[in-house]
Amino acid sequence: MLYYLFSIFLMLTTYLVLKRIKTRHKQIMGTWFSYMWWGGDPDVVNPVSGLTRREIHAVQKSWAPVNANSFATGSELLRRLFNTYPDTKEYFKMVRKLPEEEYSQNPQFKAHVINLMTSLNLAVNNLNQPEIVAAMMTKLGESHRKRQIKEKNFHELKEVIVKLFIDVLRLDDATLSAWGKTVEFWYKHIFVTLNSPEETR
Ligand code: HEM
Repeated sequence: MLYYLFSIFLMLTTYLVLKRIKTRHKQIMGTWFSYMWWGGDPDVVNPVSGLTRREIHAVQKSWAPVNANSFATGSELLRRLFNTYPDTKEYFKMVRKLPEEEYSQNPQFKAHVINLMTSLNLAVNNLNQPEIVAAMMTKLGESHRKRQIKEKNFHELKEVIVKLFIDVLRLDDATLSAWGKTVEFWYKHIFVTLNSPEETR
C-alpha cells in the first residue's frame, strides 16, 4: 500500500516538474522569438522619439491605407482644415479667394497636399531613425516660421488629422495613443525653430 502511494506521489511530482519546465521553455522561446521578430524589446521606449517599436509598428500599419490614397486623403485633410479653421486658408494666397469646389483644380492647393503628404510619409517611414525625423521637422519649422505660420495652426491641423483618422480609419485606442505620441514628437522639433526669433539664429 505504502509503495503504491509513493508511486502515485512520484508520478504526480514528475508530471508537475515537467509541466513547469515546459511552460518556462515556452516562455523563453516566446520571448526570444518576440525579440527576433521586433529587432529588440518591443516595449522599450526610444528616448528620442518617446515611442516603442510596437507603437511605431501601429502607426506605420495604420498609415499604409492613408498613403495608398495619399492625394485624396491629403485633399480631404486640407479641405477640413480650411472649413474648420478658415483663418488657415489666408496663408495660401492662391487659394484663399476660391470656393471649395475649385480647390482641387488649384496648383497651390495640390502642391501643398503633395508636399504635406510626402513630408508626413517620410516622417512616418523613418520613425525607426528618430534623429533623422527630428532634423526633418526642425527644417520644416524653419520654413513655416518664414511663412508666419503659428504653433496654433499646427495644433489645429493635428486636431483635424486625429478627427479624420477616427472617422476614416476607425483606429483602436492603442493606435490612436501611438499617433498622439508621434505627432507630439514631430511638433516638439517643429516648434523649436518655428518659435525661435529669426535674429538669434
Ligand atoms: C506637420 C504639418 C505640416 C507639414 C508636414 C507641412 C509640410 C509642408 C511642406 C513640405 C511644404 C513645402 C516645403 C516647405 O516650405 O517646407 C509646405 C509648404 C507650406 N505650408 Fe505646410 N506643412 C505642415 C503644416 C502646415 C500648416 C499648419 C500650415 C498653415 C495652416 C501650412 C502652410 C503652408 C504654406 C502656406 C506653404 C507654402 C505653400 C505654397 O506656397 O505653395 N503648413 N508645407
